[in-house]
Amino acid sequence: MVVSIEREGDIAVVTVDNPPVNALGQALRQGLWDAVGALDADPAVRAVVLVCAGRTFIAGADVTEFGKPPVPPHLPDVVDRIEGAAKPWVAAIHGSALGGGFEVAMGCRFRVAVEGASVGLPEVTLGIVPGASGTVRTPRLAGSEAAVDLVTTGRPVKAAKALALGLVDAVVAGDLRGGAVGFARAALAKPLPPAVSARPVASPDAAWWEAQRAAVAKRAKGEVAPLRALDCLRVAAERPFAEAMAHERATFLDLRGSDQAAALRHIFFAERAAPRPAHLAGATAHPIRSAAVIGGGTMGAGIAAALRDAGIPVVLIERDDEAVARGLANLRGIFEGGVKRGKLTEAQAAERMAGVTAGSDYAALADTDLVIEAVFEELSVKRAVFDRLGQVCRADAVLATNTSYLDPRLIAEGLPNAARFIGLHFFSPANVMKLLEIVPTPETSIDTLATGFALARSLGKIPVQAGICEGFIGNRILKRYRAEAEALVRQGVAIAAIDAAMRADGFAMGPFEAQDLGGLDIAFLQREGARAAGQHVPETLGDVLVRAGRKGQKTGGGWYDYAPGDRKPVVSDRVAALLAERITGRSEMDGGAIAAHLTAAMAEEGKAILAEGIALKASDIDLVEVHGYGFPRWQGGPMFKAELGR
Ligand code: 3HC
Ligand code: NAI
Repeated sequence: MVVSIEREGDIAVVTVDNPPVNALGQALRQGLWDAVGALDADPAVRAVVLVCAGRTFIAGADVTEFGKPPVPPHLPDVVDRIEGAAKPWVAAIHGSALGGGFEVAMGCRFRVAVEGASVGLPEVTLGIVPGASGTVRTPRLAGSEAAVDLVTTGRPVKAAKALALGLVDAVVAGDLRGGAVGFARAALAKPLPPAVSARPVASPDAAWWEAQRAAVAKRAKGEVAPLRALDCLRVAAERPFAEAMAHERATFLDLRGSDQAAALRHIFFAERAAPRPAHLAGATAHPIRSAAVIGGGTMGAGIAAALRDAGIPVVLIERDDEAVARGLANLRGIFEGGVKRGKLTEAQAAERMAGVTAGSDYAALADTDLVIEAVFEELSVKRAVFDRLGQVCRADAVLATNTSYLDPRLIAEGLPNAARFIGLHFFSPANVMKLLEIVPTPETSIDTLATGFALARSLGKIPVQAGICEGFIGNRILKRYRAEAEALVRQGVAIAAIDAAMRADGFAMGPFEAQDLGGLDIAFLQREGARAAGQHVPETLGDVLVRAGRKGQKTGGGWYDYAPGDRKPVVSDRVAALLAERITGRSEMDGGAIAAHLTAAMAEEGKAILAEGIALKASDIDLVEVHGYGFPRWQGGPMFKAELGR
């Protein structure tokens, strides 16, 4: 039974139990529909409390039903029926009341939340708008301004804020069901407030709406749903309830079948499948109670910060006292940045630092569960580190490398018990970026592999398993993307036109401005290394620039010029002169065609990666691109986009 009814005197308690997240599938909608009828017909019941079993209140519509034709009773009708019930309903919220779940709660006459619960309308993150009155009832509870924030960002708010905004009527500590029943009894002693649909909403003026539109459009970068949601909110503020409902429903049904919604659902399910892959079902992850990071540079400090954020004590090893001090300063800088941005309190930052022991003596690693190496990208340096680790660490300690391009098999050569060795490829900044490529060698045990996934879960990262090749999944596709972008430049497409095209397509940056930010020298040195080792690596345009001293923003110029202290790229005559003899044509390719060409090239590389078994599934490649390389989420990643064929 997804819906059951109990009685506490004159209060009925309706319990929803539809694991895992009480999503509003057809059976639940029908169950709620029937419950209203049954309770309306029961003269002994004076009010109804709606609670949910399990980890959360109703988390929304059942997203798995979105690809299929809607089946009655439809959710807006269920919400209206609850609102129109002869007895007042009280939603008792724990966990998250999201999307359709919050819409059901708004159909109730009252909402009571337990401390720590949250409410929200995340529909835009799935490429749709709320479809059961979210855009129409929310402004009637909290006003248009709060509603715009909630609906166009999709970000939920915690119970205390929801109370302040008027989204819930009370917050209870402890026993939610008891608290909600008590609330219902107290409410019956007073005149009932009007149903939410009957409450007035004051519309801000046209200039305010236009300003909102400009702000949302800027954030949306090509994503459709937030703007359509804003339109719904404006209609809700300016037109009668029924008209606004019809407008919202039409928008919802229109977007539900859109490519963007399909793409966002694809990423939603890929993200949820990633942390627990089926092939690791029988494996046992090692517990990670302590960790060490070797190297406190850009990556080492970021990885140490990520570990501390997850509450794991960290030993940081550097080469000598001076480097130890630098590493600690890097780490402190990350936490201080967190304080400046309001993400951490001073006390939390201090607690993060207190959990770090730093030094240059490997003896400190004798009892560490996990060691992550992030030293210079040089095989000999890394090998020397793993030699030491092999001597000092426990035989069951998991030993990981963060190498970007080196072959993990070569790094692990000679390591006693290589079954506990693995590649854990973090992305910069490692405490922020969600992606973690997990790279087993042929000798890595399944338990070590499972430990990598368990670590990702505890760090809140999205793990993707990658096989061994140059650049694994992400950097290999990046290399191809950059090569294709350079090929367009050789054909005469302007550098700035390529960057503009990718930004217009939803990327945060184009390929050339991104290289200027990160520095052209790293990839250059890698190519030079391969050339020195006898490999044939054709000259790139980037090589020409680096040889002319143009390594990016840090040298005042790369693909663009930069005024001192200014990050704004300026088209460079010097670059035009340096590359002139290598540019063979003149092309007026339009932005759409440029973006389509470059994303298709990514997908083509992705297909090769899949065919070689470097990635286990296409959706993993999409996750890598979305979470590691800024591929627009609402396009679903290069593989999804290619599959869609548009
Ligand atoms: N529909 C179907 N399945 C869902 C779902 C949904 N709305 N939300 C979560 N699930 C599934 C997940 O796929 C996962 O399945 P699995 O165990 O088979 O992998 C399982 O439920 C558990 O999900 P999580 O791993 O995400 O569980 P957490 O406990 O970490 O998080 C949550 C719980 C906060 C509720 C989170 O699942 C979430 O944010 N869900 C999405 C909520 C959402 O977007 N709701 C709006 C839907 S659209 C809508 O309501 C339209 C309406 O306006 C008409
Ligand atoms: P970095 O140069 O900022 O830091 C390297 C640190 O290692 C330095 O602080 C150095 O003192 C220390 N170190 C060198 N030898 C050591 C030794 N024997 N023992 C202890 N410490 C030693 O380099 P970065 O960028 O942090 O890169 C580190 C590793 O991470 C490389 O393998 C790199 O390929 C990889 N990586 C880098 C990314 C990036 O965006 N920078 C992204 C993902 C991986």
